[in-house]
Amino acid sequence: MSTLENELVAAIRNIPDYPKPGVMFRDITTLLGNPRAFRRAVDELVHPYAGIGISKVAGIEARGFILGGAMAHQLSTGFVPIRKKGKLPHETVRIAYSLEYGVDEMEMHKDAIKPGEKVILVDDLIATGGTAEAAVKLLRQIGADIVAACFVIDLPELGGRKKLEALGVEVRTLVA
Ligand code: PRP
Ligand code: ADE
Repeated sequence: MSTLENELVAAIRNIPDYPKPGVMFRDITTLLGNPRAFRRAVDELVHPYAGIGISKVAGIEARGFILGGAMAHQLSTGFVPIRKKGKLPHETVRIAYSLEYGVDEMEMHKDAIKPGEKVILVDDLIATGGTAEAAVKLLRQIGADIVAACFVIDLPELGGRKKLEALGVEVRTLVA
């Protein structure tokens, strides 16, 4: 493990049996509350993507908003929220999906990204990849060019990374 990976792993709290028995919940609030770990995680997520014409960072509700806002600021791009259903006021595209511990629907504004715009997708964690796969489909539906999908945490045994790579998406993660 690299020094950075060690530092980030140490900053993440593990909660057994949350939100359901058998799930080991990876709680990033402790990482977000740690000034050095938060900055290092954001710097590391964005560094391959500076100066290559990215115009938007799209973050998945809710934890992807926190990382995505910081990344957009760092890259001087716009930020686009991909939200749980029923929260966005204008015309949206919507998709149903399943994740490690449930099912849900997400949506984004149809006019949030113009066809051909280069976008980075971000969330805190990829597990089964159901959430991120749905986000990729929504982004592609409105014509976004997805340059990469970034996550602080990969849970490789749940197969999410492979699912996204099979869709032709570059995946960047910091700790497994
Ligand atoms: C968590 C996490 C990812 C998703 C990953 O979000 O932040 O979005 O699960 O799981 P998957 O790879 O199996 O799809 P959650 O739905 O718990 O929402 P929250 O961020 O609003 O708490
Ligand atoms: N989202 C899906 N699985 C998760 C886990 N194990 N910890 C935190 N968020 C998650």
